[in-house]
Amino acid sequence: MMERDLPEGLSADRLPEHVAFIMDGNGRWAKKRVMNRVKGHEKGAGAVRQVVETCTKFGIPYLTLYAFSTENWQRPKKEVDALMGLLTRFLRNERKKLVKNGVRLTAIGEIDRLPEEVRHELDLTMEETRSNARLTLCLALSYGSRSEMVAMVQKIAEGVKEGRIDAASVDEEMVSQHLFTREIPDPDLVIRTSGEMRLSNFLLWQSAYSEIFFTDTLWPDFTESEFASILKDYQGRERRFGKVLQP
Ligand code: FPP
Repeated sequence: MMERDLPEGLSADRLPEHVAFIMDGNGRWAKKRVMNRVKGHEKGAGAVRQVVETCTKFGIPYLTLYAFSTENWQRPKKEVDALMGLLTRFLRNERKKLVKNGVRLTAIGEIDRLPEEVRHELDLTMEETRSNARLTLCLALSYGSRSEMVAMVQKIAEGVKEGRIDAASVDEEMVSQHLFTREIPDPDLVIRTSGEMRLSNFLLWQSAYSEIFFTDTLWPDFTESEFASILKDYQGRERRFGKVLQP
């Protein structure tokens, strides 16, 4: 039996297996305080630490964080460099704690586009946490759903061309198996902070039946108690997957 520490009103048997976050609003958080945008990202890293801890505490086994999109490469070089530096430091500083707390780190996205330093820290952290099983923390880095799907089509088409795959046998399972997320279940709940109501090229195939939750809270201000109240809301929703539920 998994050890859990749940707040009142949250039931252990209907928790999502996989929660995915679109962490938005770092820039606005900083702007409100007349600070540089990078300060917002730094504060956002604190919210990341918190949400990872909360998932281990509540017993949620999969957490995906949209940390850097393919579109984010178009931000000013200074900001991109600062985000990469922040990521490097996060991995370096948190590694021991992740190992100790049973967190396994994985990553999805065009990892080979990331600076060498980030890839190095990612590799080390993934290697050192590979046998952990309490929480799988998946970082979406240089991630975009459309490019993921283009790569999937190319891989399957290649297989068909080489005669390894029969075109008639291509099905949903095969598509899923050719995405970055092949080893993780689809998200049950997608949460976006900062009041924007878009999915912004995030897990478009995988979130076909996900519950979506939008909050006005800016990512650096996101707390465990708000997370708990979103989970309560989730537990009150009826998931039908397009079917009619029998009374
Ligand atoms: C969106 O806010 C956030 C990002 C583009 C980066 C997310 C990164 C972090 C939370 C920090 C580091 C991550 C880890 C995993 C340690 P925005 O800049 O688009 O905000 P805005 O819409 O208010 O401008």
